[in-house]
Amino acid sequence: MGFGPPDPGPGIDMESLPLPASDTSIAVIGAGRLGGVISRALRAAGFDVHGPFGRDEHAPETDLAILAVPDSAIGEAAEKARAAKTAHLSGATGLDVVDLSIHPLQTFTGTEPPGVLHGVGAAVDGRTDDDRQLAGQLARALGMIPFTVTDRAGYHAAASFASNFVLTVLDVAERLAAASGVDNPRDLLAPLVRQSVDNWQRQGARAALTGPIVRGDEATVARQRAASAQHGELFDALAAATREIAGRPDRDAEPQHTEDEGRA
Ligand SMILES: NC(=O)c1ccc[n+]([C@@H]2O[C@H](COP(=O)([O-])OP(=O)(O)OC[C@H]3O[C@@H](n4cnc5c(N)ncnc54)[C@H](OP(=O)(O)O)[C@@H]3O)[C@@H](O)[C@H]2O)c1
Repeated sequence: MGFGPPDPGPGIDMESLPLPASDTSIAVIGAGRLGGVISRALRAAGFDVHGPFGRDEHAPETDLAILAVPDSAIGEAAEKARAAKTAHLSGATGLDVVDLSIHPLQTFTGTEPPGVLHGVGAAVDGRTDDDRQLAGQLARALGMIPFTVTDRAGYHAAASFASNFVLTVLDVAERLAAASGVDNPRDLLAPLVRQSVDNWQRQGARAALTGPIVRGDEATVARQRAASAQHGELFDALAAATREIAGRPDRDAEPQHTEDEGRA
């Protein structure tokens, strides 16, 4: 067993964390989407991995139990776990019933190869500095980029906007395109989506924004609104939010919003 070096004290430098010892034994509880992926990734990183274990299976005693179960089952799984330390993978859940948490800022369907975690951000936390350090070490051992957040609910809402709500909007785009005669809407819309994301990453939304709203072409916006009648409420809400972005003063590339700015 080895959980790495002693507590370095407050102000942990996530970038210089040492990797945890590879003889650390880890049980993965929960054999769903992320349970399978995280087990494969931990194995590929050289850890002594057991599982993933399904609901009615019994995990052995280990140094660490990672609870890859739905958020509502974390309490029950933590009670059953027989490990020196417990961790969950949830973005929204606090540390009431586990020692540490590692939330990969990525979406998984369960079929991904181990390398899928490389370069992915991971929000890490721990009850103590040692626990937080262990969470950061594990994230780094899997090739992820550990970071900490001050407001979990806000952070998780950001993740939902970036993934779940994007899919909701894309589903509407697919339906509208299909209804207007496009045969393979996902294949044809995907390059547009990817380019928009690339532009947003480089420059921020204001500089990346194109289309009738930012051009002030209200006649075209009205025609689009009429054609989107089935999705009228969503169109109106998104058009209002887009007008707000278009009304921002600076067309130049925006610096990324920072924590200090968010607190101001
Ligand atoms: N998937 C993602 O993209 C993603 C991304 C980041 C973080 N996460 C986090 O990862 C965790 C797992 O999410 P998931 O998407 O992998 O969920 P999932 O696909 O629904 O898998 C959860 C698994 O846990 C099992 N389970 C439920 N209660 C259990 C218990 N008491 N003991 C043992 N196993 C139990 C379920 O079995 P049954 O089928 O029998 O109920 C299911 O196989 C969540 O905290 C989630 O927030 C997921």
